[in-house]
Amino acid sequence: MVEWWRHAVIYQVYPRSFADADGDGVGDLPGITARLGHLADLGVDALWLSPFYRSPMVDGGYDVSDYRDVDPVFGTLADFDALLAEAHRLGLRVIVDIVPNHTSSLHPWFVQGRRDRYIFRDEPNGWRSLFGGPAWTQVADGQWYLHLFAPEQPDLNWHNPEVRAEFDDILRFWLDRGVDGFRVDVAHGMIKDLAGVTLFDHEDVHEIHRSWRKILDSYPGDRMAVAEVFDTAPDRVARYVSVGELHQAFNFDFLEAPWDPAVLRRIIDASLAAAVAVGAPPTWVLSNHDRRRHVTRFGSVRRARAAVLLMLGLPGSAYLYQGEELGLPEVLDLPDEVRVDPQWIRSGGTELGRDGCRVPLPWSGGAPPFGFGPGGSWLPQPADWAELTVEAQRDDPHSTLRLYREALRLRRPASTLRWLDAPDGVLLFETETTRVAANLTAAPVRIEGPASPLLSSSEMAGELPPDTTAWWTVQD
Ligand code: NOJ
Repeated sequence: MVEWWRHAVIYQVYPRSFADADGDGVGDLPGITARLGHLADLGVDALWLSPFYRSPMVDGGYDVSDYRDVDPVFGTLADFDALLAEAHRLGLRVIVDIVPNHTSSLHPWFVQGRRDRYIFRDEPNGWRSLFGGPAWTQVADGQWYLHLFAPEQPDLNWHNPEVRAEFDDILRFWLDRGVDGFRVDVAHGMIKDLAGVTLFDHEDVHEIHRSWRKILDSYPGDRMAVAEVFDTAPDRVARYVSVGELHQAFNFDFLEAPWDPAVLRRIIDASLAAAVAVGAPPTWVLSNHDRRRHVTRFGSVRRARAAVLLMLGLPGSAYLYQGEELGLPEVLDLPDEVRVDPQWIRSGGTELGRDGCRVPLPWSGGAPPFGFGPGGSWLPQPADWAELTVEAQRDDPHSTLRLYREALRLRRPASTLRWLDAPDGVLLFETETTRVAANLTAAPVRIEGPASPLLSSSEMAGELPPDTTAWWTVQD
């Protein structure tokens, strides 16, 4: 049996913004549980939950103060167990986020002054935080501690065996509860060479991932882990998913690609080659909770629809980000006073940050909060999302939601890709199961071959229209 994750489509849930059951305006675990039917209907294989652990929420929960409990804003451990049970009942696997590079500054270790478990020095080096400003903050007695992200996210010292033992135990805690795997935050960051120039991808992180793989393999049922390894070349990323390490890594090159056929083709080829070389599945992703939504990045819903059929036609595994199935755009005009992202705050407002892709989902009705919950929503939703709600799209055969459902229903697992000759600006390939043509030009093109497509991202009448992708079944 091929492991489930090799071809899986995994849907990312950002808990603050998915669905709110208790009416405080912030999404929560019972809200997610109540809406799991949406994911089952969509046809995804699994969901990945961004952090729901106890946290002061300086960075949307990526600042964890207790890795073994649910933050009260999201519910309780019993709510988590109920979510997991319901997901499994519906045939959905559940992956949870693990944040090993840093804790919250309110984690008991940091509060109790366990400096051996963090990175304290008498002198800072020149590193800058990824959220802007220096990566070092001075404490009262003059020492400095390292934080690659916000000052409220002190980096852990992975040379300390107690840190390793703690995370082994945290993994087991969630595996024992029944999770199907982990998404590993900043998986290339845990080991630092403070004398070096690069912050990431130190050789010694691989040993950590090998030890985690052993833990995952000691559980039944194909538990998996997906690594977040950004700003790293494909052949280096592949090392995180080589034999004995993790199962998947996100494809940030694909996520960052412009709507450009030559660039996309180059990235697809490089990604496939790197994955094949180590026997891992390639992965694909167009949006997540850190990046501008791809409707906005590519400039139109039409292109976003073509992009997702291109992505879901590729061999391997794909990640969806909540709301992309509704064609949601980035919200660019949030009022300054509602923005909470440290990227926005620490850049002094020169970077818009990531709040615009985290606006709560519209489910139903004609006015905010569009069924998000019985209260309001922690970020305001645009009034014109009335036509983008799940309810508004469910029965409209031309809606983006219906396109996603059809695509996931018709998608067949594949492992190989063969390019076919195509006019300029057209990506044309075949996998074992599907022929895929994406027209990235401004004019319609004629594609030789089988007559009517299985599915297309916009209406087709013989020719393949501009900014359109179509699928055909490959006959064997
Ligand atoms: C990557 C996460 O995706 C992002 O949201 C977070 O801010 C940083 N890691 C720090 O944990």
